[in-house]
Amino acid sequence: MSVQNITVIGGGTMGNGIAHVAAQSGYSVTLVDVNDAALERAIKTITTNLERQVKKETISAEVMAETLSRITTNTSLDAGAANADLVIEAASERLEIKQQIFATLDRVCAPHAILASNTSSISITELAGGTTRADKFIGMHFFNPVPVMKLCEIIRGLATSDETYALIKALAEKMGKVPVEVQDYPGFISNRILMPMINEAVYCVMEGIASVEDIDTVMKLGMAHPMGPLTLADFIGLDVCLSIMEVLHNGLGDSKYRPCPLLRKMVAAGHLGRKSGKGFYNY
Ligand code: 3HC
Repeated sequence: MSVQNITVIGGGTMGNGIAHVAAQSGYSVTLVDVNDAALERAIKTITTNLERQVKKETISAEVMAETLSRITTNTSLDAGAANADLVIEAASERLEIKQQIFATLDRVCAPHAILASNTSSISITELAGGTTRADKFIGMHFFNPVPVMKLCEIIRGLATSDETYALIKALAEKMGKVPVEVQDYPGFISNRILMPMINEAVYCVMEGIASVEDIDTVMKLGMAHPMGPLTLADFIGLDVCLSIMEVLHNGLGDSKYRPCPLLRKMVAAGHLGRKSGKGFYNY
């Protein structure tokens, strides 16, 4: 089986980044979202990011034009996924929404099609269990900004076959990513380690140990992180950070993963980071 057509579900930050990189790597991409406005926004973001790459001379104007020409959009999940060899789901991080999407995909996709989720924390085994093709179900966890970050965590559900894993590993490499094989446990590797660090930084703010800026400076200048943990939390979205901490806390049952009360309070207040204009910093 070789993959030619990839359908990406969700035109948000991760979905448009995945569509961008897949199309730039030569795949025909169908981007699916619920309405035209969301799809227009996604194509506009992809265009801006490609323009940035042309300006930096990392790609030519021809590559940009070819990349855009390989992306089509569709507001129907059924029609958008009908010809897919691989579907990469990057919809909202809510179990019920993902389960609904995968039930539809399982029905409309060809029998050979592989279903992948970009979930950052939901169990791949559980999502696969709602389909009739758990052997062809896998996690492909990309990182924001997708065109820049080299990692792709590939998560094997309990029933993911060796063939599916080998195919997706080769595909991630063709997309210019470095794949890492991960077993399906809460938070995988990335968020199992990243989120407790961010959560601890929020505790440092809550306990008045240092200012937001100084906590970020410590991690940037002392540990050479490109962004401090609180800047990164704003970048990821505080609601996403909270929901991943809850997955770790519930899934692993250890009190060391309890979400910081200040994180909960900020999410309750709608201070979600960059996307809401306010988080640990103002935007
Ligand atoms: N598309 C294409 N190129 C982009 C881009 C985009 N969306 N965003 C940035 N770039 C390019 C820039 O053009 C620039 O290219 P150059 O090196 O050739 O000049 C390069 O990336 C660096 O960008 P900038 O100079 O604008 O800014 P910075 O040097 O501050 O880098 C950053 C920005 C790459 C975002 C860097 O700050 C960084 O690495 N931050 C950490 C990001 C991170 O940790 N991401 C993971 C989040 S966790 C996640 O996604 C998983 C989830 O489950 C929570």
